[in-house]
Amino acid sequence: MTENQPSSLYSDLAWAFRMISPPEEYEQESKALFEWMEQYAEIPVRSLLHLGCGAGHHDYTLKKSLQVTGVDLNDSMLKLARELNPDVEYHQGDMRSVRLNKQFDAVTIFDSVGYMTSEEELKQAVETAKAHLNDGGVLLMMPDETSETFVQNLTYHTACQDEHVHLIFIENYFDPDPTDTEFEATFLFLIRENGKLTIKQDKHNLGLFHASTWQRVIEEAGLQYKEEIYHDPDTAKDYQVFLGVKH
Ligand SMILES: C[S@@+](CC[C@H](N)C(=O)[O-])C[C@H]1O[C@@H](n2cnc3c(N)ncnc32)[C@H](O)[C@@H]1O
Repeated sequence: MTENQPSSLYSDLAWAFRMISPPEEYEQESKALFEWMEQYAEIPVRSLLHLGCGAGHHDYTLKKSLQVTGVDLNDSMLKLARELNPDVEYHQGDMRSVRLNKQFDAVTIFDSVGYMTSEEELKQAVETAKAHLNDGGVLLMMPDETSETFVQNLTYHTACQDEHVHLIFIENYFDPDPTDTEFEATFLFLIRENGKLTIKQDKHNLGLFHASTWQRVIEEAGLQYKEEIYHDPDTAKDYQVFLGVKH
């Protein structure tokens, strides 16, 4: 028996996120990003605010070097994050508007920054980061895609299983209108539980900006712009990393 119904990786399907993208897969990347935070900050980096922290998979590595505070929009993801990292402080909030009235040595927004789909939203997220940075602190952002790295109609699949479920996760990235700042991420889930197949789908609109836009937004916020490239040795993909230092 099959079903085809809208769902969300960050609410009813949040359990699948841990299977598809387990915490250990974030270790190498988290270490490299932490080294850049230390390199570019003008103060010792001891505290970190992670906006869009998701299920806490980056935090699992980052908390070994830093006092981490995480913020995410979705309660189901925060529940997973709290289970994985009971020693990390988590808050429900929107990266465009949240104010914790506290400052940190570094603020990061990794893959979650993709949910900023207009330049205005990107500016709001950068303003949130700036409001939470100590002088000399650093903002580090790493979107999954920029206009320079985007590949039309790219499709991947991942197969995973635990003692209850066999899961196939298919992801497709498509930009129907290259003149705007959005593209579509479409996810299909083939979930087999005790021989019964359930098919779920989820669609996200994600932001797509040129590197020059990232630079302008960071500079217009009054932060000193820096950039790096993260090369993922497992997938051979290059990610653009955008940093802003607060003076
Ligand atoms: C791919 S997950 C991030 C996973 C994360 N890197 C980890 O280590 O587990 C993307 C997250 O962005 C969050 N998100 C999307 N829009 C947001 C917003 N406006 N403010 C805060 N979080 C947001 C979603 O709830 C989701 O948990």
